Amino acid sequence: MSQGLDTRADDGSHTGPRHVAIIMDGNGRWATQRGRPRLFGHHAGAKRVREIVESCPDVGVEYLTIFAFSTENWKRTQVEVAGLMDLFRRYIAKETRALAELGARVRFIGDRESLDAKLVKLMEKLEKATAGNSKVNLTVALNYGARDEVSRATKLLAEDVARGLLDPANVDEETVSRYLDTRVLPDPDLVIRTSGEARISNFLLWQSAYAEYEFIDTLWPDFSREEFASLCASYGERDRRFGGVKK
Ligand code: IPE
Ligand code: IPE
Ligand code: MG
Repeated sequence: MSQGLDTRADDGSHTGPRHVAIIMDGNGRWATQRGRPRLFGHHAGAKRVREIVESCPDVGVEYLTIFAFSTENWKRTQVEVAGLMDLFRRYIAKETRALAELGARVRFIGDRESLDAKLVKLMEKLEKATAGNSKVNLTVALNYGARDEVSRATKLLAEDVARGLLDPANVDEETVSRYLDTRVLPDPDLVIRTSGEARISNFLLWQSAYAEYEFIDTLWPDFSREEFASLCASYGERDRRFGGVKK
């Protein structure tokens, strides 16, 4: 374990975040600053992922969820969108073995319907290849938007009501959570956004209702395991009250 990165308290109890979600932003600006095309930044950004996943067990993070492509990102130029889809395909094909060896269990959230069939096949293959792992749970949000997720969940829930499988009188927060893409994940404790923007951009709206947030200036391709560890450590100093009063 790297020095100074442990988030365990003196009595051994774990004070760090169990689930960290990251809005990996700033790839385009990172490339532009270097006079390179935006896709150069996306490639550099993709390379950062493995190191952060690798460092999760060191800082006690059991779940890492990363925002890779939003339902709004289709608005970008055809060149950038096609380049990103190509990057996802290559990345998954290339990283499958490394992620499996790291003991990572990979899951994808988001709408798969409008993704290229070949990409979806690779995603499913990666999920299957890592299904037996439990060292760290990596969830990749690809073609994900929280409002889209809630809309899809509502549709499924309404279908179950229509089929008589669900009584509307019994719908509560736990029921809604079960219809979301994140049904098997705990809520994020800490949401980090890189690149200086202080907004959520339609990421995990329901799940992050009580998350702590860190908006940092670092552009995603410059994000390091040290900065990740330091954010996890500062999380341990925060006082989460969940609407109550401090004891
Ligand atoms: C984040 O970087 C990656 C994706 C949204 C796919 P950006 O591409 O948004 O980078 P900036 O915000 O333009 O710098
Ligand atoms: C959010 O970043 C989406 C991802 C990081 C995948 P954007 O760059 O798309 O967000 P906005 O447009 O600045 O809100
Ligand atoms: Mg951006």
